[in-house]
Amino acid sequence: MADFGLLTFDFGLIPARAVAYVTLRPMSADFTPDVLREIADDFKARHRTGNVRALMVAGSGLTLDVPDWEAAEEVALAEVFPFPLHELMGHRQTMTLWRRGEETILAMNGRFHLYQGYHPEEVTAPVRLAALLGAEMMLATNASGALDPSIPAGSLVVVSDHINLQGSNPLVGAWGLPFGPQFPDMSEAYDPELRRMALVAAKEAGFEAREGVYAAVLGPSFETPAEVRMLGQIGGAVVGMSTVPEVIAARQLGLKVLVVSLASNPAAGLVDRPLTHEEVLETGKAAAANLRKLLGLLVQRIFPSS
Ligand code: HPA
Repeated sequence: MADFGLLTFDFGLIPARAVAYVTLRPMSADFTPDVLREIADDFKARHRTGNVRALMVAGSGLTLDVPDWEAAEEVALAEVFPFPLHELMGHRQTMTLWRRGEETILAMNGRFHLYQGYHPEEVTAPVRLAALLGAEMMLATNASGALDPSIPAGSLVVVSDHINLQGSNPLVGAWGLPFGPQFPDMSEAYDPELRRMALVAAKEAGFEAREGVYAAVLGPSFETPAEVRMLGQIGGAVVGMSTVPEVIAARQLGLKVLVVSLASNPAAGLVDRPLTHEEVLETGKAAAANLRKLLGLLVQRIFPSS
């Protein structure tokens, strides 16, 4: 224990950089669960939301395509959320409303990350908004580093479970109770039926996807080789800096969850060269076609046209 007057830190279990990051920008007293409910009502009044079926979330450098649905509206995130937005390479900062008849799929073109300084309730705001609008599931993609040497760069990994090492949880404090149980079960956080459908769809689309555990770290520095060895030893197949807050919020709200991760690079230390964000985006681009195809097929299967 280190004791600095009134502040006592236990450096044993909490990553010091996570603590330092969370204190970067004070939590906004203006963004509360009630404000989010007002945002949802306002969103309904301004946009033809119809029957919202799902939230889709695109990770770094990835774009989504929803075949048979029309990209009816593109909404700037700055117009929806009341907190300051940060620029990030490869992210469009918009949300598309895909429409088919009276049904809508909300698609986030990019996401908020803890490492950008967003607070957990900001990172999870799109999920809670989608749930307030009626969404019943979240289909998310992300980019990750492969911890397991048998996963080549460019592979798709259907996430079967996660290990949360981000040092935070979106259900802490005032945001925990208004949206569901404070202690939601996470034993089948990633829906087994959706996972099975994803593996089948990948095979039919002509490429292999496999299942694996997503280890979530805060970032934004990439992992050290020692961290990569540890993450592999504790059961991670891939490592990334996102998605887990959204999954926790989604599960509290009872949404079914599917996450497909694009392993864009071997994690640090597994190959003999440094990692760059550009490499992640470049491989993302090359393999993104597979991921787009997979999600397109999946949406067709999950929501067949009647
Ligand atoms: N580590 C963490 N996050 C990532 C990586 C990585 O190697 N690649 C893409 N996102």
